[in-house]
Amino acid sequence: MTQQAKPRILVVHRLPAEVETRLARDFAAELNSEDRQIGAAEIVSRAKDFDALLISSMFKCRADVINALPASIRMIATFSVGTDHIDIPAAKAKGIAVSNTPDVLTDATADVTLLLMLGAARGASWGDRMVRGNRWPAPSLVSPLGLDVSGRRLGILGMGRIGQAVAARACGFGMELHYHSRKRLSASLEQGGKFHARFEDMLPHCDFLSINCASTPETRGIVNVKSLSLLPPDAILVNAARGDIVDDDAVIAALRSGKLAAAGLDVFKGEPNIDPRYREFENVFMLPHLGSATRNTRIAMGMKAVDNLEDFFSEKNPRDGL
Ligand code: 8YV
Repeated sequence: MTQQAKPRILVVHRLPAEVETRLARDFAAELNSEDRQIGAAEIVSRAKDFDALLISSMFKCRADVINALPASIRMIATFSVGTDHIDIPAAKAKGIAVSNTPDVLTDATADVTLLLMLGAARGASWGDRMVRGNRWPAPSLVSPLGLDVSGRRLGILGMGRIGQAVAARACGFGMELHYHSRKRLSASLEQGGKFHARFEDMLPHCDFLSINCASTPETRGIVNVKSLSLLPPDAILVNAARGDIVDDDAVIAALRSGKLAAAGLDVFKGEPNIDPRYREFENVFMLPHLGSATRNTRIAMGMKAVDNLEDFFSEKNPRDGL
């Protein structure tokens, strides 16, 4: 970076200590070490004293927020691979650079996807509640029972980095792979998976449907009444991507009718204020958006966000610029 005055960074969330130490050393950073929840209005009013914002997917940077930012803000670095919380065209129109943190959370998020599949299929949620609640089931060989994961069919919606890492793990479980993505991958990246150019054509093959795509205008609400109706009996839905890719009413109706045997959900529309009806189901295994939440992954994400800030303020293109 140029050795003039250090760039001023307004850091919206508390970050891992290693990342905060680096920010404090290399930038004029205002940290949020108490992890106070700071709203958009406060960020906008404080931003005039800063050159860049470091945010995450928990901070919604819609067009109204971006348009209200002062001219001093030249970059928004997000601590996330997802960018659906940022109106990128609005940022670009204002000349604000945007970066994200791909790659470093791929394995952690793929691991959680498998956890959701296993947790939903094998009853991790109800099993745990039974033991905790001192409700050990009466001796029986036929109840309670889950569904197999090994050897079953998995359909992956979104075969990007995370989808491919899910496929690699599923191979270890001997699963038959199917995927739908914008385009077909090379044979080595497909890992034996069958490409379906149309999402609808993949659905009848999905004992498990795993959502691993980005939330975009094309994918929002794509898992709806019609798509769920095309799944085979006893299908399991897992979502480690974004809550708004599914239509909650449709998923809840499919769980009620038994069309879906179970679901594993790490993300929800409107989180943390999730649709309360999900709590009614014993067969829904839920996590509070833990996809990238391991110590090492969060440090790597923070370091990547800082690398991007460093690139930008050294007059280079941010390595993960969008
Ligand atoms: C984070 C995420 O949990 O990278 C993403 O897109 O959703 C997650 O890794 C998130 O950025 C924290 O808000």
